[in-house]
Parts: sequence; structure tokens; C-alpha cells
Amino acid sequence: MTSLTIRRPDDWHLHLRDGAMLAGVLPYTSRHFARAIIMPNLVPPVVTTADATAYRARIMAALPEAHTFEPLMTLYLTEGTSPDDVEEGAKSGLITAVKLYPAGATTNSHSGVRNFENAMPVLERMAKIGLPLCIHGEVTTPDVDIFDREAVFIATVLEPLKKRLPELKVTMEHITTEDGVDYVNQSDNIAGTITTHHLIINRNNILVGGIRPHYYCLPVAKREKHRLALRKAATSGNKKFFLGTDSAPHVDPLKECACGCAGCFTAINTLSCLAHVFEEDNALGQLEAFASLNGPAWYGLQPNVEKITLVKRDAPIEFPDQIETGDGPVTVFDPIFKSHWEVGG
Ligand code: DOR
Ligand code: ZN
Repeated sequence: MTSLTIRRPDDWHLHLRDGAMLAGVLPYTSRHFARAIIMPNLVPPVVTTADATAYRARIMAALPEAHTFEPLMTLYLTEGTSPDDVEEGAKSGLITAVKLYPAGATTNSHSGVRNFENAMPVLERMAKIGLPLCIHGEVTTPDVDIFDREAVFIATVLEPLKKRLPELKVTMEHITTEDGVDYVNQSDNIAGTITTHHLIINRNNILVGGIRPHYYCLPVAKREKHRLALRKAATSGNKKFFLGTDSAPHVDPLKECACGCAGCFTAINTLSCLAHVFEEDNALGQLEAFASLNGPAWYGLQPNVEKITLVKRDAPIEFPDQIETGDGPVTVFDPIFKSHWEVGG
């Protein structure tokens, strides 16, 4: 196959940041993707419907005129989040989901949830009105090894929460383990997003031959058997799994330092990388399900009507090593392979 036409895709987990960084990275998403779930971990975070209204306006103001793109806004769950505000945001159509960061789990997560008891009134209201909860599924207790944090979260936080509130719709974001895949497969009312980079790298890519900070993200990439389980889930066509790139730009000085930030910037080459990965697994026919159909179905939205065409070129597609933003350079995710797939025919 040398050409593939699919419905225009959506990104069900994206960091756009704010200000100059927002202006620098947004066009790379909006030129390919029709919609994206926008992460609320700004500084300060997007916690109220009023915050989300203002952030959405800043995103729309940064959008290139020729692009059509719909940001799907989320609220950052804190122990002080008001159930009424969440319901109002959801009913107005502005809020697509609420995001749970366990406190300390990742970039700008210090306002996240420490004691789940305090978040129960909001979660109960969300279950009642059918608003999905997007979860960063890692425990943060220092005695749990960083490579086990997802599996321990499933057993000690997620499963008890699902037992208590089975009607709550949960998107387990950026799953990185076989345990995550199995859990999503076995449980009701839960879906999982998978990033592009977790389909491509394992933990060796971060650590062998020197520390490679641009492969460091959270949840951290795991051992090879987990990457293979993610590949199998993503390319299966199973409706429970879909694309959430977690494209998370940081300027290079904040990645290449003694305590580097977590995040891979993949917005620019995600579709090219995915086509390569799906072709490698003889699953190009499932790319549309993963990138364009399963996500909207889960969120109760229609798939996009427009289409995009991916074309396989004779020569590999070149991407810049870095993009320039008003805040500084951001290194582009290096998939190690060269993809010949280009968007846009
Ligand atoms: O790698 C990550 N980067 N994982 C996250 O959960 C947050 C994100 C960010 O905001 O940089
Ligand atoms: Zn993220």
C-alpha cells in the first residue's frame, strides 16, 4: 500500500501550554488533527470553568487562520473542585472531561489529588452526569519503584475507585504497561489512550549508551514486553484503545539539564510515525480506528467528516531536529527509524 485515506484524526491527550509556546506548537497539531483534548496542567492550572473559557479563547486566538481545530477543554481536578462548577462547564458544552493528576505524579501536578475522599463529591457528580474522568495512572508514594507505579495505581487506586463508582467513565491515559492493557480490556466503562512514543521506545532507549533526556516522559517507557503489548492493543482495532499523543513540549534547556522535565514533543511527526508503526505490524487498515474512530465513539462524538491522505514516498520524510518557538527551541521526537509516510498527499 502506498497511500491511505482516513477520516481526519483527533488527539485525545495533548499539551499546548500557553503564551509563546502555545503559538509555537499549536499549528503542528491543528494542521493535521481536527480536535484534541487539552491538558489543564498550566501554571497555575485550569481548575474552573472560567479558567477553561479563558484558556480556550487564548488557544483560538493562537490558531492559524487557515486551520480548523476544536480544542476540547478539561478541568484539573483538585480537592477543592466544585461539583456545581464542573456540571455547569459540562452542560454548557465547554468541558469534555476532568483530569486527575495524583499530586506529584508529573509536570505541574502539585495541586493534584492527595486524599481521594475529598474528590468524591465531584467524582460522584461526574458519574451522575456522564462526564469522563481522564486519569494519569501512577502512584506517587516514594517507596514504589517508578517502573511499577502504573501497575500499583491500578491495583490500589483505580480498581477501588471503579468498585465504588462503577458508573464513572474513566479514560486511563497514556498506558505504558501490559498490566494497563489487560486492565482496560477486562474492565467495564474504561478506555485507554496510547501515545505514539510509547509504541516506539522502551526504557533502553532512554538509558543505554548515555542518558537521552528527550526520551524521558511520564509515565516512563517500560521494558520491551510492555511496548509490544501496547503495539498489539493499538493495532488491534479494539474500540477501547485510541490515540492520545501526550505531545508535551519543553524548551531544550529544561530537558537537557541535571533535573530534566518529562515530555516528548511528537505533534509534528506523530502521523508519519504511526503509519510506519502500523505498516510494520501489517495493520495499516486499523490506523483509522486508532486515530480517528475509537476516540470519538468513546467520548460520544461523531467522527470527523473530512479526510486526510497519507502517502508513502520513495524517500524518507525529513523533520527538523528542533522547532523554534518564542520561548526557545523544542527538540522533535526522534523515532530512530525513518518514516516514508507523509501527510497530505
Ligand atoms: O511526560 C509527560 N509530560 N507526562 C506528563 O504526564 C506531563 C507532561 C508535561 O506536562 O510535560
Ligand atoms: Zn500528558
